[in-house]
Amino acid sequence: MDKYALFGHPVAHSKSPYIHKLFAEQTNQSLQYDAILSPLDAFSETVQTFFAHGGKGANVTLPFKEQAFGLVDECSSSAEMAGAVNTLIMKDNRLLGENTDGSGLVTDLIFNGIELKNSRVLVLGAGGAAKGALLPLLKKETALIHVANRTEKKALDLARQFSAYGQVSASGLVDVPHEPYDLIINASSASLAGEVPSIDSRLLNNRIVCYDMLYGREETAFNRWAKEHGSARQLDGLGMLVEQAALSFSLWRGVMPDTTRVRQALRDYLA
Ligand code: ATR
Repeated sequence: MDKYALFGHPVAHSKSPYIHKLFAEQTNQSLQYDAILSPLDAFSETVQTFFAHGGKGANVTLPFKEQAFGLVDECSSSAEMAGAVNTLIMKDNRLLGENTDGSGLVTDLIFNGIELKNSRVLVLGAGGAAKGALLPLLKKETALIHVANRTEKKALDLARQFSAYGQVSASGLVDVPHEPYDLIINASSASLAGEVPSIDSRLLNNRIVCYDMLYGREETAFNRWAKEHGSARQLDGLGMLVEQAALSFSLWRGVMPDTTRVRQALRDYLA
């Protein structure tokens, strides 16, 4: 049976084995997908052992996505720009790297009926999650992306890196220009601590969609705040999780699973 795995630290909490099991059942693919805890100081060895024993592909999660980028023989432009890889593919004895996180986000936004072409997007955060999202968003011909981060310099660096691909500006969280945004994406990890990036709540209105890349059993802190301050819709990152997994699965198996049923199954599983 073809073997796939997720490498991370920690990894036990991951929903990916469940998602890929559903994809495999749905598409009649015979495969095994396990979560593997990699020691923090031995990611490369752990991955190499897996592939030496016939592994066909893998996902990589925190904190190893940058290390995975350093490991591959070849990678896509999205992975190159993000400097991070979440999907490994063994093909003809070469290790290929892709980053499906940002495309998963974009696919989820489209699934939810959000028009990205000519839209004005505010991205909160300038870490790995924001970086992975920028190129896939820009490829959808957004009118403008403003990146705001607690540490302003990181936002400015990101804007500079991506400015060749479209209109990207940057600031600290408290200096976000008061412009009519269509979409605010929380790519910061603030919700993990139950916190909300300190942007002015007057940036919200009843036409703005707010999207938190995180998800959980409970509504995230950011989405709760967005609802309280009158945004039109609040979406969480569960759909992004399923879509990035589906893109990895299709790269490995050449077949795209139907994500609608898996989204629902995952919501029920979390409930
Ligand atoms: P990830 O890979 O999840 O993006 P990361 O690269 O460590 O994780 O980046 C975390 C991001 O969340 C950063 O942009 C961080 O802001 P700083 O660059 O100023 O550290 C942001 N972040 C974390 N906690 C936050 C908080 N409480 N409020 C606002 N931003 C926060």
